Amino acid sequence: MVEYDKDAIVYPYITSYIRGEIPERCGILKELEEYAQENSVPIVQPETAKLLEVLMCIKRPMRILEVGCAIGYSAILMAQYLEEGGSITTLEWDAATAEIARKNIEKAGLSDTITVICNDAKEVIPNLTGEYDVIFLDGPKAHYIYMLNDCIRLLKKGGILVSDNILYKGMIADDEHVIRRKITIVKRLRRFISAQMQRGELETVILPLGDGVTVAVKK
Ligand SMILES: C[S@@+](CC[C@H](N)C(=O)[O-])C[C@H]1O[C@@H](n2cnc3c(N)ncnc32)[C@H](O)[C@@H]1O
Repeated sequence: MVEYDKDAIVYPYITSYIRGEIPERCGILKELEEYAQENSVPIVQPETAKLLEVLMCIKRPMRILEVGCAIGYSAILMAQYLEEGGSITTLEWDAATAEIARKNIEKAGLSDTITVICNDAKEVIPNLTGEYDVIFLDGPKAHYIYMLNDCIRLLKKGGILVSDNILYKGMIADDEHVIRRKITIVKRLRRFISAQMQRGELETVILPLGDGVTVAVKK
């Protein structure tokens, strides 16, 4: 039996089937999946990881910005698809977690490719310059809405903004699912989704995959 999240937004048997079709990983990514499972580190769900890989395969990015590094799993995953000489900047505010990520990145032989910035993304993003081919938002859900203008500013034309946990265990789509203490996150995620759908600079799709993902392309 393939494991799935009990709060999943997709019927568990569908998730089970999809996960059963995803080939098992090997090497450092497998090790990190096991570490994440044992230590309750929230890394991207397997089907979301696959979506990221497909998008990276299409895009072959030169520069990636990630918000929410955790132990470095998704950064190491995306690094496989960088153009030669490409780089990833990933933000993680928890110092101990950032340190674990740096060690994992070193073990993967990617220290020259992936830079972990240990700071609050809300402080870092407004000060970033240059252009990115891909931005992956997987950090503070309640703040995505406040990061949107900077993400659009930082994205190259044709660049992709991928945002995870956008349907937030179903709470986004239906008030009856909302847990009271999550109401602020839910309201802000709803605003973030609507803003992406309505911004003229973006073409956006909401995907009911994993915990919900939006993929937006800068026109
Ligand atoms: C879902 S995890 C990231 C998982 C990672 N992208 C992966 O799939 O391997 C979210 C991470 O964002 C970090 N985070 C939360 N708020 C943040 C903030 N304001 N600035 C930087 N990092 C933050 C958390 O400490 C956590 O490690």
